Amino acid sequence: MTDALDLVIFGGTGDLSIRKLQPALYMAFVHGGLPADVRIIAIGRRPLDTATYVDQVLGQARAFISPASLDDAAWQRFTALIDYVPLDAGQTADYLRLGHALRTGRARQVYYLATAPDLFVGICEQLAHARLLDARSRIVLEKPLGHDLASAREINRQVGRYFNESQIFRIDHYLGKETVQNLMVLRFGNALFEPLWRAPHIRSVQITVAETVGVGSRAGFYDHTGALRDMVQNHLLQLLCIVAMEPPVSLDPDAVRDEKLKVLKSLRPMTPADVRRDVVRGQYIDGAIDGQAVAGYRQEPGVDPASTTETFVALRAYVDNWRWANVPFFLRTGKRLNKRRSEIVIHFTDPPFSIFPDEQPRGANRLMIQLQPEELVQLQILAKEPGSGMERRPVSLDLDLHAAFTERRAEAYERLLVDVIKGRLTHFMRNDELEAAWAWIEPILHCWNGHGSRPAPYFAGTWGPNPSSTLLTRDDHAWSEDQID
Ligand code: BG6
Repeated sequence: MTDALDLVIFGGTGDLSIRKLQPALYMAFVHGGLPADVRIIAIGRRPLDTATYVDQVLGQARAFISPASLDDAAWQRFTALIDYVPLDAGQTADYLRLGHALRTGRARQVYYLATAPDLFVGICEQLAHARLLDARSRIVLEKPLGHDLASAREINRQVGRYFNESQIFRIDHYLGKETVQNLMVLRFGNALFEPLWRAPHIRSVQITVAETVGVGSRAGFYDHTGALRDMVQNHLLQLLCIVAMEPPVSLDPDAVRDEKLKVLKSLRPMTPADVRRDVVRGQYIDGAIDGQAVAGYRQEPGVDPASTTETFVALRAYVDNWRWANVPFFLRTGKRLNKRRSEIVIHFTDPPFSIFPDEQPRGANRLMIQLQPEELVQLQILAKEPGSGMERRPVSLDLDLHAAFTERRAEAYERLLVDVIKGRLTHFMRNDELEAAWAWIEPILHCWNGHGSRPAPYFAGTWGPNPSSTLLTRDDHAWSEDQID
């Protein structure tokens, strides 16, 4: 068997395909990440021929490739790998046509479902029916996988009828980010942090994924999804897992995923009273981002003017195990916030006793791992201010990853697509992980639905609604932005 590959993208005319997948495939192609014998089969409902698809649809993907990497000759060679097949996901006859474009038996088929999750099962059924699956096929499932625990279970069960777990790649692109993978190295490649990486030495963990963008053109999807399902259930909980997990015995996919599963299962379940106290739900109203006036969420095209969908969530979670007993994990994400910034901040406890006559500054030590906009690892420690006294001031030990490594950094999707092609599952979610994440999220969804609660409004361009700050100040914590700016 050669490494011949048919990479089939369902949703080939969609937003994700244009903004992320095709640019990632181009970069993988240019940098030798694709096998020599590869065909990329883009699938969409629109009745286009390949030349028109390449010209009109794929052409838009060029805007999402850095100009330095875009080379016309390479682009020509890349687009020559592509076929477009119009297909209606429910039409059996269309899959027979797809079969003609594939090299079944001679190449491995990887099916990437960049579609709404309610199409996943039907597509698998149709592929099986058209005999387009075999033991070497792989399937990639985009998030969100389902909209609650029951639907996620059902998708897992049904997809499991056609693929075994080692053929299923549930993608969470945060697991492909360089800094997220680097966190594993920071934690498990150094002995320095491990003795302190626990209660009572850690006082709190903050995870923020803040975006300045609004809902954009995705209102149809977002308005019935919301930030909890779109971001917390997957990206933020995965980041929490990597911070909180025990050292896995190896990088074997199941060794890593077993440890992440234990974290998800240790998350303290929320009662309705916990949800009311510890979860903040917000929705942006008009405001300004970088000095530009922007509309409120309900005024965005395609959004229900009476929508109660949350565009912001902040919450306090606990991982009930020995390592993390009573350490709060504060999670926060939102659209139209003050800055685009994703970071994990580990706050260490203060020294147990101060030998200095003046008051010891609070929160002297923290480790900040910034994912976006810059990759940055910063350790804040207290140092003596030059002069005669013993005044102290926080200073940062900065790990400048860009200066230390000049190598090219692949985008998350490129790295994960290459993992799929090579069959590496470590950075993908297993079925039980996904279900455990939904199981923990679900009481929050129930509580919000059951009590007719409404999201708290926040002005676009701020850090979210006021209760997000009180969630922390109540216990003498604070979000870290004031200290970082
Ligand atoms: C996606 C969400 O999974 O992640 C989007 O659906 C969000 O709503 C995006 O904007 C954020 O990803 P990144 O890599 O830009 O932080």
